[in-house]
Amino acid sequence: MTDTHVTDAGESLAEATSEASLRRSEERSAKIAEQIDKDPSEFRMLTGDRPTGHLHIGHYFGSLANRVRLQDAGVETFIVIADYQVIADRDVAGPLRERVYSLLTDYLAIGIDPARTTIFTHSAIPALNQLMLPFLALVTDSELYRNPTVKAEHEATSGRPMSGLLLTYPVHQAADILFCKANLVPVGKDQLPHLEQTRVIARRFDERYGRARSDQPVFPQAEALLSQGGSLILGMDGTKMSKSKGNTIELRMSADETAKLIKRAVTDSERFITYDPETRPEVANLLRLTALCTDRTPTDVAEEIGNGGGGTLKKLLTEALNEKLAPVRARRAELERDPGYLRDLLAEGNERANAVADATLTDVRTAMGMIYT
Ligand code: TRP
Repeated sequence: MTDTHVTDAGESLAEATSEASLRRSEERSAKIAEQIDKDPSEFRMLTGDRPTGHLHIGHYFGSLANRVRLQDAGVETFIVIADYQVIADRDVAGPLRERVYSLLTDYLAIGIDPARTTIFTHSAIPALNQLMLPFLALVTDSELYRNPTVKAEHEATSGRPMSGLLLTYPVHQAADILFCKANLVPVGKDQLPHLEQTRVIARRFDERYGRARSDQPVFPQAEALLSQGGSLILGMDGTKMSKSKGNTIELRMSADETAKLIKRAVTDSERFITYDPETRPEVANLLRLTALCTDRTPTDVAEEIGNGGGGTLKKLLTEALNEKLAPVRARRAELERDPGYLRDLLAEGNERANAVADATLTDVRTAMGMIYT
């Protein structure tokens, strides 16, 4: 496979193939969604976030709401707070403790149910991390260097030399998914290469240790469930929503802070409001957000506003978003008053994840012939 081959159309082959594979992933995702509706008990889902900041409405509409939906549909769920990933591309991990608890609090506030969902941190699960060693033996260095997400993340660090952990973190992420033998991973399309790497590792492990054609493969083939809609949400300045740009609205913010941020949002000079994602991306973004909060279409919202202009749009969005987030924020405030409860929950999640990871590591060592007692 070459990355540099250029077709007549001037489009790189790598891009063309990834467009095609993206379409395949989308089709596959739609089929899986149907299967989940039929029998959720066939699935075990693993997903997670890096504790690098606070969760915002992009996360909420892009992935969090979907996690809750899957959990409530009866899919067994694991959520990793990926603290070891934080140190892959930075020297300073930041206030980890505060961020880990902020994530946990956000999860609970939006409706993740700790009785049904296991929430844990990487650093508390030794057996998960140990899977990294046999997994690293199954991948080649060029495979790792080719990973487009790793490349993009490395470029984003502008000149910083790539750490060994950044290069190999897709393998660590495979350990996240495979320690609990998850077969379902809801992801954005930027994470698809990691999922493919996970599938390759699972397959190679069972091939190398003679389980591929047995009726007892150690690992399942994890499938991506592509998140819809969320990636369409931009920040209040019309660019990609990102914690570091300060253009986000965080779940933990107050209604007043939310109102201020929306007031400052970028629109355009045309008064009459229309839904035109191509030519009016900033206005379209605010319309989409309003629509998501009120279960309508962006076009409907635009038609209602019409000559009301950007001011009316912002007012509508502020009301809709604050109303949508009010119960989340109330629950969040309540949880924050009980740090002991949060600590116990995390300890419990870690304990459950450890039991699962220990069992998987035993399966792995057994397959490898590395149990000597
Ligand atoms: N890399 C993911 C992100 O940056 C977080 C993550 C860690 C994850 N481990 C995972 C996502 C396993 C899915 C599956 O958002």
